[in-house]
This record gives sequence, structure tokens and C-alpha cells, in this order.
Amino acid sequence: MQISGKTFTSPQQVRTACLVIGIGKAGTLRGAAKNIDSAAAGLLSRLKKRGDISGECGQTLLLPAVDGIAAERVLVVGTGADKLSDSEFRKLAAAALTVLGEQKVEEACWLLDGIAVDGRDRGWQLTQLAMAATLREYRYTQTLSKPKAALTLRKLFIADASSSADRSAIQRGVAIAAGMNVARRLGDLPPNICTPSFLASEARAFARKHANVAAKVLDEKAMRDLGMGALLAVSAGSEEPARLIVLEYRGGKRGAAPQVLVGKGITFDSGGISIKPGAKMDEMKYDMCGAASVLGTLHAIAELKLPINVTGIIAASENLPSGRAVKPGDIVTSMSGQTIEILNTDAEGRLVLCDALTYAARFKPAAVIDIATLTGACVVALGKHASGLFSRQDDFAAELLAAGQAIGDRAWQMPLWDDYQKQLDSNFADMANIGGVGGGSITAASFLARYTREYRWAHLDIAGTAWDEGAAKGATGRPVGLLTQYLIGKAG
Ligand code: BES
Ligand code: MN
Ligand code: ZN
Repeated sequence: MQISGKTFTSPQQVRTACLVIGIGKAGTLRGAAKNIDSAAAGLLSRLKKRGDISGECGQTLLLPAVDGIAAERVLVVGTGADKLSDSEFRKLAAAALTVLGEQKVEEACWLLDGIAVDGRDRGWQLTQLAMAATLREYRYTQTLSKPKAALTLRKLFIADASSSADRSAIQRGVAIAAGMNVARRLGDLPPNICTPSFLASEARAFARKHANVAAKVLDEKAMRDLGMGALLAVSAGSEEPARLIVLEYRGGKRGAAPQVLVGKGITFDSGGISIKPGAKMDEMKYDMCGAASVLGTLHAIAELKLPINVTGIIAASENLPSGRAVKPGDIVTSMSGQTIEILNTDAEGRLVLCDALTYAARFKPAAVIDIATLTGACVVALGKHASGLFSRQDDFAAELLAAGQAIGDRAWQMPLWDDYQKQLDSNFADMANIGGVGGGSITAASFLARYTREYRWAHLDIAGTAWDEGAAKGATGRPVGLLTQYLIGKAG
């Protein structure tokens, strides 16, 4: 979809298949609505008086033909109160975009003037709108014999948004949503296609497209040489070889410390010998959504040409049972030298991540964020609305929380106190890989904390936020928004 600014003389003269205007709850019509109303002989006032338009936030009314104006259709959107919250703005944008999708128009002009969102500037609205529109283009088609109908909307004009600041706000929204769509596709692909090697080939293909991106893929031999005994314990039961994928985006000064993103890439998590129950086991194809968010975020920042260095590391493996699989009771040595008693083979995410996090230190990172569908306990704690955020550095946590809040991809900070560490005690190794009853997402994060003492670090548990269930079943593309917004902040 092409999203761009449009200059115009008066609302009634805009030639478009569908003109989108806003009407608030207040008694009098203002701005574009007022103009359209007088050009159309008081039509909007009559509809408002009759109650067809309430102005309630997110209410829509499509007027298929309006005499006296140039647009073929007018979509009236309720804009509610004078000052909107973030979510109210998203709600009205979503409502309008839904109607545009249903009407199958190929082009529309957005003329919602005079909307104020509390604490947000005009650029924020443009970014949010561009994001919402671009997310609607996503269709999963790869394994369908008949492709789904594509979104017909091909051009979205935004009235009066032609300044360079406006254009970059729009571009930001498009790039973030396109990055989310990359992550959604990878998450949605079945686990017999999206294997560790497939993720590696996607990474290489991405690097080929960008001169300032380099890809490196470590095979199991290379990982063995590095002593990655924890990661290799997870892949031991699988016929598909594990991969450690490294993508280096160099947009910043040579030698400037990179932001490092580490993604959990379990392309299928059966639980291993500690096998999961059968119900919903198919959903464990999404256990690589951390990895997908790393790739999606890199797509977004490369598109935006952010002037910073960012390194993505993906720990990719399957987790399956077999005669060669790791067993409960097995003790392995991680790359850090710390030994781990594997009490539950289903707690595999922390095992692949601990070695990837040890490896991350060699990039002398400015900061490291790992992203993982790590625990069911995080879903119990926070549901599907917030990602769990863990960090020993409260200022770092605050930065990430604000980024998520701004873009509409929220996280919530959980404790990471040392008090939880003793739950990981083992009689036979330096630590166990599970923390017993209580605080499951925290003990998982506490495990990772033992591998991340050398640098600034945060952990995002996205087990609840990475995918939707029910009718909309599929990957969400989160937390590409949070991560990209954070990196935009780093780019100054
Ligand atoms: N991939 C799962 C976590 C998960 C569960 C993600 C549900 C999304 C939805 C992870 O590898 C796992 O199995 N975790 C276990 C840990 C337990 C054995 C300590 C869990 O959450 O049950
Ligand atoms: Mn598991
Ligand atoms: Zn898992």
C-alpha cells in the first residue's frame, strides 16, 4: 500500500473513492465535517440530529453517495471526546480501516482533522495510522492452494501530511508494520517448513538484500567447538540440526557498540522427553517468535536506515524426544562453564538462550535484549496484553516500557530479585533448569540472569503476546513495535 500526504483546497473538492472524516460527540460540527455538511445541504447535521451518527469513538457510517461533493463516498467516523487516549485513537483508526477493507475501495483519503490525542503529537497519529493500515495487508498464503483475497486498498492519502516530518512519521509506521508482518509470516509457517535451517536461509536472504547487513550461521560443529553444551542438549533429540544465526546491521559508526537482540528460535517445542500434552501442541510452532521478532526488527531498522549498529542472534533448534534426546537428570556444561541439571526437558528455551547470551558478550554490546516465548507462567501472570519485562537495570526497563507504551506494544515489568535465585539450586550441578513451584516466569528470567552479568540486559517473555488464539489465530508480530521504537530512540 502506498501511504502518502495529499494537499487539497477544500474537503468537498477532494476527488477520492472514499473520503474519511470525523465527527465528535460535541454538538457542533467542526473542520472538514462542517465543510462537507454545508456543501451537502446540511446532510451530516440531519444525520446527527436523527441519531444515525452519535460521534461515539469508533462508530462508523458509510454514506455511499453524497450530493454536492467530489468524493464518491464519505465515511464518517466517530471521534468521541475532545481528547482521546492512545487506545481510543487506535480504535477509531481500526474501525475506519475495517470499513475501507469491506467496501473494497482501492483508494481513500483520510481527512480526520482536529483530533487530539492526550500527550501525543501529530507524528504519533500518522505513525499509528500507517502501522494499522500496513498491518492489514498481511495475508498468510504460503500453504493454501487458493490464495486469500488481498486487501483492495492500494493507496491511502492523508490530507495535509506532506511535510518531511509527516513523511518520516508515516514511513516509520509503515516500516514497523512491515517488520511485524515479516515476523507474523515466520511465526505462522508450519514447523515442517520453518526449521532452524529455514530461519538461517531467511537471514542470509535478508543480508543479501542489504549492503550493510552481514549474516553468519554457526552449525552444530561450530557450536560444539565453542562449548555450547546447553543449546546442543536441546537439539540432541532432533534430526534437524540446530543453527546459531548472527546478523550484523552496521548503520552506525564503525566500532560503535551494538545493541544486541537475542531471539529464542525453537521451531517446534514438543517438550522433548518431558513431553507436552497433545492439546494445542501445534501452537508450539510459534516457539520461534522471539527469533521472528529479531528478524522483523532488523527488517524495520534496515528499511529506516537507522544510524546505529544492531546485532541479531538467533538460537534455533527443535525440541523433540528420541533415543538421542536429552533426559531429565542429565547434566550439561554451558558455554559459560556453568553446569546445568536438566530436570525438565520442556524448559528448553533458557538452555538455548543461555549459550546465545554468553556468545553475545563477544560483540561488546551497548545493551542486550533477549526475546522469548519462554514460559506458560508469563501467560498466567499477564495474559495476552503485556509482554513480561525483566531487567536488573531499572533505567533500562523504563526505557523499554516507554517504547512499548508509545507504539502500542506494551510490556510490564516483573521482579528479578536475588531472592528467587535459590529456587534454581541443584545438588548435582551449578543450577537446575527449572525453579519449582511459584514465579515460573521469574525463575526462568533468574536463570538467564546468571549468564548476563557482563552487560546491560533485559529479557522479554512474549509467550502471551506473540500470538492470538481463536478466529484470529496467528502470530501477532509483537514485540517488533517495542523493539523498533526503542532502537529509533537509540538513533537519536
Ligand atoms: N515454549 C514454552 C513456553 C510457552 C508455553 C510458550 C505456552 C507459549 C505458550 C516453554 O518452552 C515451556 O515449555 N516452558 C515450560 C517451563 C516449565 C517446564 C518450567 C512451561 O511454561 O510450562
Ligand atoms: Mn518447552
Ligand atoms: Zn519452548
